[in-house]
Amino acid sequence: MQNVLVTGGAGFIGSNLINELLKDNEKRIFVFDNLSTGRLENLALDNPLLTFFNIDLLSDFNDWPVIENLNYIYHLSANADVRGGFKDRETDFKQNVLVTKSVCDYAKANNCKHFVFASSAAVYGDPEIFPTPETSFLRQTSIYGASKLAGEAYVQAYSEYSDFQSSIFRFVSWIGNGYSHGVIYDFYKKLLFSPERLEILGDGNQRKSFLDVTDGVKGILSLTNHEKATEIFNLGHTEIMNITKLAKIVCDYLKLDNTKFIYSGSNRGWIGDSPLVHLDISKAKTYGWIPKVSIKTGITNTLDYLSADKENIFR
Ligand SMILES: NC(=O)c1ccc[n+]([C@@H]2O[C@H](COP(=O)([O-])OP(=O)(O)OC[C@H]3O[C@@H](n4cnc5c(N)ncnc54)[C@H](O)[C@@H]3O)[C@@H](O)[C@H]2O)c1
Repeated sequence: MQNVLVTGGAGFIGSNLINELLKDNEKRIFVFDNLSTGRLENLALDNPLLTFFNIDLLSDFNDWPVIENLNYIYHLSANADVRGGFKDRETDFKQNVLVTKSVCDYAKANNCKHFVFASSAAVYGDPEIFPTPETSFLRQTSIYGASKLAGEAYVQAYSEYSDFQSSIFRFVSWIGNGYSHGVIYDFYKKLLFSPERLEILGDGNQRKSFLDVTDGVKGILSLTNHEKATEIFNLGHTEIMNITKLAKIVCDYLKLDNTKFIYSGSNRGWIGDSPLVHLDISKAKTYGWIPKVSIKTGITNTLDYLSADKENIFR
């Protein structure tokens, strides 16, 4: 039996990952989460293999429960709101840098064997090469991206000098079942309350990749079998889509054909937003992973999920 810790396991990506990990009945899963954005309803708490601890990871790691024979840590907790960094410059530093250092300390103290870190395409800032490979120059344009890059650096350094290996994943935007924040959520919510007009941040020409959660979870689980102290993988998609097209898909889904799109203007949705996010996934492909769900189908999966539970999700 393997012991696995998922920080931020009550969140969107964490809870989907846990559902997959529980399938083989061979792992005991521990979750540390303070429920700041995560939800207990996301977790199968009646499963005896799952143990939830309500812990704020800004607390001293020495006070966190000890987990014997700790094989894996999937460190997913973070401030996942990418937009607010320049207004509130403390949150990303605390939640994404300090917490990551504490989780590394905890991994070291508990002899963890493998550390998985959720980083982001934001670490590329405004890259010069598209699709952007892992080797690109990392010129930072957002506080969120900078905090994720600092987190990556800590994970790498600890894996050189501790007994754990690490896998660092630079994600594009995840969508699909359990989706709780991001552009589709925002559009859906705005259209529910005022279907006649939709405010779109930027000029609508920003092009992004999106990854369905089923593909993303498979990527995380299949790409940790490597021999290096640290490997970095882009987890993205071969496709991209512009934001106006995405807005039209949401309107079509809601059967709205007269919605007026109102653009906030520039080619960026917010300070630090990248007008084009398209990651090169060749490296992950050489390890046998490839996304199977098209962006359009992933968006429909997301809208199906939001529609099925809209009273709770948008309460
Ligand atoms: N969702 C995406 O599209 C995306 C893209 C790139 C990177 N990421 C990264 O992937 C990870 C997971 O993202 P997500 O979309 O599931 O976000 P999420 O907000 O749904 O999940 C984060 C979880 O961490 C918990 N948490 C936050 N601060 C905490 C703290 N101090 N102590 C304990 N728990 C805490 C929250 O309650 C939540 O359950 C994050 O690190 C995020 O930065 C996500």
